[in-house]
Amino acid sequence: MKFFIDTADIDDIRELAGTGMVDGVTTNPSLVAKTGRPFADTIAEICAIVPGPISAEVTATDADGMIAEGRKLAQIADNVAVKVPLTVDGLRACKTLSDESTMVNVTLCFSAAQAILAAKAGATFVSPFVGRLDDTGTDGMGLISDIVEIYANYPEFETEVLVASIRHPMHVVEAARLGAEVVTIPPKILGQLYNHPLTDKGLAAFLADWEKTGQTIL
Ligand code: E4P
Repeated sequence: MKFFIDTADIDDIRELAGTGMVDGVTTNPSLVAKTGRPFADTIAEICAIVPGPISAEVTATDADGMIAEGRKLAQIADNVAVKVPLTVDGLRACKTLSDESTMVNVTLCFSAAQAILAAKAGATFVSPFVGRLDDTGTDGMGLISDIVEIYANYPEFETEVLVASIRHPMHVVEAARLGAEVVTIPPKILGQLYNHPLTDKGLAAFLADWEKTGQTIL
């Protein structure tokens, strides 16, 4: 299972890359806007820090515009994955860019029908937004289960399920249980995955007992 981090914050990315847990990064226009930094420079910097796929989203809404923007973004680095929205134009752009061997992440997926279309368009990744579905009273992880099951019926589908809009550690655990290939995790939630009070308590007890021995390892 691959862990991407869902942020455009360079400091966070640098710090988390050091954990050895990060296989890629996803950004979106909102995350880039939060940094207040130039888009292309930010993507180039992220691509140099993390060798895996780095999603950079187009902002044109017509297919030709998305293709032109996608080609420009793809020139930033070999590991750019062009992110396009799940619209008719987005999937036309996805097909063209994928045929040119550019990685494409189809974003804003909210149904199994949309995920089938993304796979047929040759997407490298499809990003179903589980948290935003949960917010509407719909079962986000149920959608992941449906997509994983459907894709398994068609070995010719090479699209990886990238679980997005993660809101808590159980979204990550459930995505793993269902066999999704990738989760994109906000930095705060990646930190939460490490935590368990029994780990802290157990470590404190071990260290207290060790101190009583008066020994050191080095
Ligand atoms: C995914 O690629 C998106 O950037 C992200 O997961 C959206 O998450 P949000 O619903 O928390 O904004």
